[in-house]
Amino acid sequence: MKLKQADLDYFARGEWQNPQFWRRFGGQPDFTGKRVLDVGCGHGSMAIYVARAGAASVVGLDLNCRLIEFANANLIQNHGDVADRVTFLCQDLKDYPEDETFDFILSKDSFEHILDLPGMLAEMKKRLKRGGRIYAGFGPLYNSPLGDHGYSQSRIPWRHLMLGEEGVLARTRARWPQLEIHSLGDLGLNGLALADYERIFAQSGLTILSLQTNRSDKLLSRLLSLPARIPFLREYFTFNLYVVLERP
Ligand SMILES: C[S@@+](CC[C@H](N)C(=O)[O-])C[C@H]1O[C@@H](n2cnc3c(N)ncnc32)[C@H](O)[C@@H]1O
Repeated sequence: MKLKQADLDYFARGEWQNPQFWRRFGGQPDFTGKRVLDVGCGHGSMAIYVARAGAASVVGLDLNCRLIEFANANLIQNHGDVADRVTFLCQDLKDYPEDETFDFILSKDSFEHILDLPGMLAEMKKRLKRGGRIYAGFGPLYNSPLGDHGYSQSRIPWRHLMLGEEGVLARTRARWPQLEIHSLGDLGLNGLALADYERIFAQSGLTILSLQTNRSDKLLSRLLSLPARIPFLREYFTFNLYVVLERP
């Protein structure tokens, strides 16, 4: 399979983002000899990164089969050194064997796209070893300034909230008339608020070891996060979330 340059570029961006992802948690776990699952693995750069960090085996799952096709071909063609320890599957986690358990489950920039997050956490919990951990970092959150992931086609902060869901859908249909779009879910966005995530994590039956918000080195992001300290504004000025959950 000939790999497309756009996919290779996206993969390379991921390689650059992976150490930043772990810095935002305050450091990465010791992956040596561990079994790791990456949910929403996309082009697969995190799975390869974790294998190089010493994991015994890494499974990357994604619902987008085109990305998994790229991830598998790229693994064989360009990352043969870890190919025997990394597996990419186009599969829903609920269809993955429950008796295959993991030390760590990772998810980078995907939780805001997972439509049934409580259901996903329940499936993750089933496949975590006791004391196993989920590391999920993601954003932008829907109520943050650019939380619509560009679907309103506006750089005006919170424009999508002013337009409302119907307004965002109308703009998306106008740009891509061939798409069948009836809800935010059809755009791959769950539209959850910060408060929803906090409630879902609290009700997951997993222990919240840490929950950090607005993790970024960028000056603009750091300035934006100042108003988030005011309770009323927290929802609208919190753009990302980094959570560590543990199976008791
Ligand atoms: C923004 S991409 C992030 C991909 C990759 N983790 C990265 O950082 O580049 C979000 C990914 O989540 C995937 N996704 C959404 N819902 C999913 C689900 N329920 N199970 C697995 N993957 C899912 C999408 O197909 C997409 O590839």
